Amino acid sequence: MTEWGMNPIARINIPASIFIGAGAAGKTGYQARLLGLRRALVVCDPHIAASGRAGEIARVLAAEGVETTVYNAVTPDPTDRNVAEGLDMLRREGCDGVVAIGGGSSIDAGKAIAVMAANPGRISDYAGYDQIPHDGLPMIAIPTTAGTGSEMTKVTVITDTERHIKMMLLDPRLLPSAALVDYTLSLSMPKPLTAHVGVDTLTHGIEAYVSCKASAMTDGWALSCIRLTGRHLKTAWTIPDDHTAREGMMLAASQGGMAFANSSVCLVHGMSRPLGAVFHLPHGLSNAVLLPAVTRFSVSGAPDRYAQIARTLGWAAADSVDTDACERLIEGLEALNLSLEIPRLSGCGISMTALETALDKMAANALASGSPQNNPRVPSPEDIKQLYLEAY
Ligand SMILES: NC(=O)c1ccc[n+]([C@@H]2O[C@H](COP(=O)([O-])OP(=O)(O)OC[C@H]3O[C@@H](n4cnc5c(N)ncnc54)[C@H](O)[C@@H]3O)[C@@H](O)[C@H]2O)c1
Ligand SMILES: [Fe+2]
Repeated sequence: MTEWGMNPIARINIPASIFIGAGAAGKTGYQARLLGLRRALVVCDPHIAASGRAGEIARVLAAEGVETTVYNAVTPDPTDRNVAEGLDMLRREGCDGVVAIGGGSSIDAGKAIAVMAANPGRISDYAGYDQIPHDGLPMIAIPTTAGTGSEMTKVTVITDTERHIKMMLLDPRLLPSAALVDYTLSLSMPKPLTAHVGVDTLTHGIEAYVSCKASAMTDGWALSCIRLTGRHLKTAWTIPDDHTAREGMMLAASQGGMAFANSSVCLVHGMSRPLGAVFHLPHGLSNAVLLPAVTRFSVSGAPDRYAQIARTLGWAAADSVDTDACERLIEGLEALNLSLEIPRLSGCGISMTALETALDKMAANALASGSPQNNPRVPSPEDIKQLYLEAY
């Protein structure tokens, strides 16, 4: 029996190779050569291409004799169209592997392209758990946000442009062959991005720890992610070139990814994906606006776990009783959003009428994703609608 008492067997999947530290992106050529690549499809978004980062990666690859073709049109919340376009380019140019550089959007698109290069049909054919029949091409992930942790996960989130939903695919075949985690690439993140992706990281740690799929293995990564976020997020936001804070947040993001992908996300992510699909809020922002209200709803399902999160963040004393610590956590999450200038849902350009019109569809899609069922307190459709309104 584990401490959590529910999961005697945990399945753990992480990338086979992880380079982590300042300058790790410089290992791209070496890693590509180890994987036997001759021509890599570099996948990124227009901003990362214009910043010169994709070009730098192409030069590092060229130095090891690996040629490149760049697909630089990934959109935020990457779509099935991004995947189809990237795949066309990969086939046309004869690429034998993928190097994705950027935030979660670029990495998720790169993972999907690498897998679709070896599997028939469309990406939507493989939504859900363990649906991908064949190994994809070798894939290297280089995150520039801290972050989604996608570089460490067997997860990709792709928007289905016909059905207007964010599909989640979970399969070990989506794991990058290698993750190159170089915090210096995150130094350029502007304040709002730092805030959004930082609270996404914290949400990964929290949800992995309270999930009914948590295990002793994921607890360690989740608590480390939570501790590092408590220590470094505010500094990284206030002083963007503080290397210690950026390094701490990059480590937190990668550990958060390892934690949630081997445990699960829960109600916050279940509710945030429909918000992103309907109202096009950035992923981190849509989690951040929901986190305090969903935590208030959920604490009764696992008060000891939520109390431990408050203590790990340094928001409750080590000897505090659980009920007090849970209160400190809810207050602390509200204060964190305020201090990072994260608005309520009402401040995100969404009218109450538009929200009310979308409530039924969003609640149904949240529940259909399966994530809310991992929450320590499982919500009804009515609970979910009420929580969207509370976050407004
Ligand atoms: N696969 C997973 O495990 C996983 C986990 C969580 C989230 N996600 C997905 O990740 C996506 C969100 O990713 P994200 O939050 O990293 O943002 P993003 O990739 O959408 O990037 C947001 C913007 O920030 C820019 N940017 C990236 N790095 C920068 C830097 N260092 N300096 C300045 N600008 C920079 C990008 O060019 C883009 O314009 C969503 O689609 C979400 O669903 C995936
Ligand atoms: Fe997330």
